[in-house]
Amino acid sequence: MYLRLILFAACIVAVNAQSLPSGEHALGTKSYDQYEKPEVCQSCHLDIYMQWTQSMMSQAYTHHWDEIEYFNLAVPHGEIDPAYKPVSDGCNGCHTPLAFMAGDVTPPRPSEGSRANESVSCEVCHTISGYAGGDAYNFNYISEPGRTKYGPKPGLVSPHHTTEENDFMKQAQYCGTCHNEMNPYGIWVKSTQLEWAEGPYAEQKVPCQQCHMPKAMGRSAKMADEGMVAQHLFHGAHDPGKVASVIEIRMHPDAREVEIDETVTLNVQLFNAKTGHKFPSGSVEDRIVWLDVRATDSEGKSYHLPVDPKGFEGEEYTIANSDLAYSDMGIPLGLKDFPGVARDAVPSGDRIFRMPYFDDKGVMTIMQWHTRSLGVDYRIGPRETKIETYTFPLPEDISPGKVTFEANMYYSRLVASVAEYLEVPAEESEPMLVNSATTSIEIYE
Ligand code: HEC
Ligand code: HEC
Ligand code: HEC
Ligand code: HEC
Ligand code: HEC
Repeated sequence: MYLRLILFAACIVAVNAQSLPSGEHALGTKSYDQYEKPEVCQSCHLDIYMQWTQSMMSQAYTHHWDEIEYFNLAVPHGEIDPAYKPVSDGCNGCHTPLAFMAGDVTPPRPSEGSRANESVSCEVCHTISGYAGGDAYNFNYISEPGRTKYGPKPGLVSPHHTTEENDFMKQAQYCGTCHNEMNPYGIWVKSTQLEWAEGPYAEQKVPCQQCHMPKAMGRSAKMADEGMVAQHLFHGAHDPGKVASVIEIRMHPDAREVEIDETVTLNVQLFNAKTGHKFPSGSVEDRIVWLDVRATDSEGKSYHLPVDPKGFEGEEYTIANSDLAYSDMGIPLGLKDFPGVARDAVPSGDRIFRMPYFDDKGVMTIMQWHTRSLGVDYRIGPRETKIETYTFPLPEDISPGKVTFEANMYYSRLVASVAEYLEVPAEESEPMLVNSATTSIEIYE
C-alpha cells in the first residue's frame, strides 16, 4: 500500500517535471523567441527599466569578473574534465537564464552582443510562476513564458499583456532559486536565503524584497495610476552606500590612564545592524571583510595591532597571514604545480570575517564548483554582535601623552591577489570602508 502511494506520488512529480521543467531539466526546453526583450518593456515601464539597467541583474552575464571566471576558469575546467561540463552550463541557469533554457550553452562572449547579454532580464523574473521542490536553489524556478506577466498586485490592466498576481514573487524563496546554490559535491556554496530563513528577519516576516526592492510612490508604467512601486535597483555588494555602516563599531580600552611599561587591552564590538543574512553573503568564496586596528602616539608614530586569538577550531583562516592558496586555479589555467597566490592580501594579524572554501587538497579555493568542504563560519550574522580584543603591551619607543586607537573595517568583493592574477579590473578588489571607530588613552611616565 505504502509502496503504491509512493509510486503514485513519484508519477505526479515526474509528470509535473516533464510539463514544467525546472533547474537542470530546463536546459534546452525553450527558445529565445518565447521571451520578449527588455526594450519592449522599456516603452511603458521606463523608470523600472532604467533602474534595472543600472543593477547587477542586467550585467550578470556581461560584467567583467563574471566573464573572466566563466570563460577563463569554469568553461575550460568543463573541457578538461567532462564531469564539470554540467556545472559550467549551469552557471547560465542563474546568470543568463534565457540562454540556458534555449540550450545556448556555452553562449557567445558578451562582446558578440547576443541575447545571452540580457542576463537576468524582466522576462526571466516575470515569467516565473513557482518553483519545484522543497528548498529553493540551483535555478529550480519554473518559467512559463507567454502573454501573462506575473506580478505582485491583483487585477492590473495593461494594453500589452495580461497580468496575474503571484504571491511567490513577494517571498524570499523566489530569490532563493538563484541565491542558494549546491555544488556537485553537495556543498552549499551560496546560501543567502537559507541564512535569512534562520535569522531574525524571517521571523519578523521581512523578506529580501523589503531591503533590496524597497517600495516608493510612483507609477510602475507610464499610463498607470500613482501607487507604491517596488524599486528595481537590487543594490548589494556593488553599492558602497549599501555596504557603508552595515557593521556598527564601538571600541573601549580597559584603562584610560596607563603607565609607560603597562599593557592595554582594547575591546571592539561589531554589531550587524543592516543585513538580512550573514555579512558577507552570496559569493562568499570571493569576499573578504577585515578589521584593521592601529595606535598612533603623541608624536605620530603608528603601530599595527594584531587581534587576540580566541582559540576556536579553524581560526587560522580568520587571522590574516602570508600563506598562499587558490592553487587549484592552475587546473583550468593549464599550469602544472601552480603555487597559488596570497591567501588574504591584507595586513598580517588582522581579523578576517569569512567562511573558507576548501578544494580536494584542503587548500582554499575561489572555484565554488570545486569545493569539497567549508571551514569555520566566522561571518557576522544578522543582528549578531561579535567582540574582538587587542592586547597591546606598550612598545618601548612609544611617546608619553595621548595615544589614539583607530579601528577600520574593510570589505573587498574579491581577494586582491586573485583579482590581480586574473586581471580583473581593480574596482572589484578595491577595499570599501564599512565603518570605523576611535578611542584614546593617556600614557604617563
Ligand atoms: C504598452 C505598455 C506596456 C508594455 C510594452 C509592457 N507593459 Fe507591463 N504593464 C503595463 C501597464 C499599464 C501595467 C499596469 C500598471 C498599473 O496599473 O499599476 C503593467 C503591469 C505590469 C506588471 C505588474 C503586474 C502585477 O500583477 O503587479 C508586470 C510584472 C509587468 N507589467 C511586466 C511587463 C514586462 C516584463 C514587460 C515586457 C516584456 C511589459 N510589462 C511590457 C504596460 C505595459
Ligand atoms: C534568475 C536568477 C535570479 C533571481 C530569481 C534573483 N537573482 Fe539576484 N542575482 C542573480 C545573479 C546571477 C546575480 C549576480 C550578478 C553579478 O554577476 O554580479 C544577482 C545579484 C543580486 C544582487 C546584487 C549583489 C551584489 O553583489 O551587488 C542583489 C542585491 C540581488 N541579486 C537580490 C535579489 C533579490 C532580492 C531577488 C528576489 C526578489 C533576486 N535577487 C532574485 C540572480 C537572480
Ligand atoms: C530579479 C527579478 C526581477 C527582475 C530582473 C525584474 N523584476 Fe520586476 N519585479 C520583481 C519582483 C520580485 C517584484 C515584486 C516585488 C514586491 O512587490 O515585493 C517586481 C515588480 C514589478 C512590477 C510591479 C511594481 C509594483 O510594485 O507595482 C513591474 C511593473 C515590474 N516588476 C516590471 C519589471 C520590468 C519592466 C523589468 C525589467 C526592466 C523587471 N520588472 C525586472 C522581480 C524582478
Ligand atoms: C534587513 C535588510 C536585508 C534583508 C532582509 C536582505 N538583505 Fe541582502 N543585503 C542587505 C545589505 C545591507 C547588504 C549589503 C552588505 C553586503 O554586501 O552583504 C546586502 C547584501 C546582499 C547581497 C550581496 C552579498 C555579498 O556580500 O556579496 C546579496 C546577494 C543579497 N543581499 C541578497 C539578499 C537576498 C536573496 C535576501 C533574501 C533571502 C536578502 N538579501 C535579504 C540587506 C538585506
Ligand atoms: C544557483 C545560481 C547560480 C549559479 C548556478 C551560479 N551563480 Fe554565480 N552568482 C549567483 C548569484 C546570486 C551571485 C551574486 C552573489 C553575491 O553578490 O554575493 C553570483 C555571483 C557570481 C560572481 C561574482 C560577481 C561579482 O561581480 O562579484 C561570479 C564571478 C560568478 N557568480 C560566476 C559564476 C560561475 C562561473 C558559475 C558556474 C560555475 C556560477 N556563477 C554559477 C548565482 C549563481
